[in-house]
Amino acid sequence: MKLHDQSALVTGAGSGIGRAIALLLAQEGAHVGVLDFNANGARETVDLITQNGGKALALVADVSDAPQMQNAVAALVEASGRLDIIVANAGINGVWAPVDDLEADEWDKTLAVNLKGTFLTFKYAVPHLKVRGGSAMIVASMHGTRTYTIAGSTAYACSKGAQVVFAKKMALELARHKIRVNVLCPGSTKTHVNDDRVLRNIESINLNIQYAPGSKLPLLGRPAEPEEIAPLALFLASEDSGFISGAEIHIDGGQSLVIA
Ligand SMILES: NC(=O)c1ccc[n+]([C@@H]2O[C@H](COP(=O)([O-])OP(=O)(O)OC[C@H]3O[C@@H](n4cnc5c(N)ncnc54)[C@H](O)[C@@H]3O)[C@@H](O)[C@H]2O)c1
Repeated sequence: MKLHDQSALVTGAGSGIGRAIALLLAQEGAHVGVLDFNANGARETVDLITQNGGKALALVADVSDAPQMQNAVAALVEASGRLDIIVANAGINGVWAPVDDLEADEWDKTLAVNLKGTFLTFKYAVPHLKVRGGSAMIVASMHGTRTYTIAGSTAYACSKGAQVVFAKKMALELARHKIRVNVLCPGSTKTHVNDDRVLRNIESINLNIQYAPGSKLPLLGRPAEPEEIAPLALFLASEDSGFISGAEIHIDGGQSLVIA
């Protein structure tokens, strides 16, 4: 097992990509802190891990809330005795609207979960990673890092682009502590991320983009399954990627190449 005896924190692990990553890291021997503000989702993921003989702890917290994140990280370290891997994955699509129609609190909400949540995950986890070194990763998106073509998703795209900047700053700051920091940039993936998305007046934004027929999902003609994203997280968590830091890796079946 590649992660024997290690401890990993995965945020947003009650669903989708985070759940698939949590399951795979646990399968490789990690004790996984399954963090989500949806308690049922977190418990379901923990059950799936323990049914397979793995070790996991449900951590119910909102990634944008500093005291909740501090307590959640402390609870995981108390249970597992260490922390080696963090995956800042929790994210929302938020409200997609023309800029003059987007409310200030809607902008704040998207940035609070996606960007401040990433900062708080690092803030409270990094002191523990410094003990032995480790691997930190962020699940950003192709959106805001290589493509800008979805109408109205300005707050989301800005949060995702800023996550890459944050990762590069962290890769340099934490290098002397032997902490590697990398970014996964998925394309369309079949999850629940659109369940709470609000689209408002986006038809009024005309980006005048033409797609060649059938070109949007070039590799397989379909979105990814979360289980097709998780192996990249395992690679970045393990010593197989021991010389990789500061990288942003697009895992999108070539999607970002045709709509960039
Ligand atoms: N699905 C896609 O097409 C896609 C594409 C690119 C990037 N992403 C990114 O992947 C990440 C995971 O999303 P997903 O697609 O698996 O979606 P998902 O909705 O299935 O899972 C996201 C999880 O995060 C949790 N969450 C949301 N806000 C939270 C908060 N404030 N505190 C704690 N937990 C919170 C949710 O409860 C949920 O369990 C996100 O950062 C998303 O932006 C998704």
